[in-house]
Amino acid sequence: MANPKKIHLQDAVLEDAEFVLYLKNQPYVRKASYSQKNILWEEHLKWFKENYKYFKIICLGNYQIGYVRVHKGDSTGDIHIALLKEHHGRGIGTKVIKQMVKKHKHLTTQVLISNKPSRKIFEKAGFKEVGKIKKNNKIAVVMEK
Ligand SMILES: CC(C)(COP(=O)(O)OP(=O)(O)OC[C@H]1O[C@@H](n2cnc3c(N)ncnc32)[C@H](O)[C@@H]1OP(=O)(O)O)[C@@H](O)C(=O)NCCC(=O)NCCS
Repeated sequence: MANPKKIHLQDAVLEDAEFVLYLKNQPYVRKASYSQKNILWEEHLKWFKENYKYFKIICLGNYQIGYVRVHKGDSTGDIHIALLKEHHGRGIGTKVIKQMVKKHKHLTTQVLISNKPSRKIFEKAGFKEVGKIKKNNKIAVVMEK
């Protein structure tokens, strides 16, 4: 059972492309995204090469259990997180978001209205709802810290 105290973050390297895609393509992660379509390896690899520097891998001891990404390339500092399902509900997501809040002055995120656990972790880290947005026929809450 994952203990949030044993979690650490590691800078992602190119070799993490496979793990990140595996997680991104989990049905519960696709469900939390605007597009439910599975992401193809070639498409992902091209994108990951340009963006891996924004990723931290969430580790439990030697195991990779998730990722968090703050996209500093855009003006908003959008934050994204995903954890392997077997580690959900133990406070890890909340802990990681709180850690990222300490490192970044301004962060934003978009959480689908149906995604209650995600909204909860961002609220617990001090994010507030600033509006709503509709994309691909899905409504998301825009949150800021
Ligand atoms: C979002 C995610 C990272 C949360 O991580 P986690 O470690 O499971 O989250 P935590 O355990 O810190 O907190 C989850 C909170 O949601 C609550 N929760 C879980 N299911 C819920 C539901 N259906 N309704 C309301 N609250 C719910 C939990 O009770 C907990 O709150 P509490 O600590 O006050 O009890 C994880 O669910 C995930 O990887 N989801 C798939 C990807 C995703 O949705 N990413 C975010 C996109 S914006």
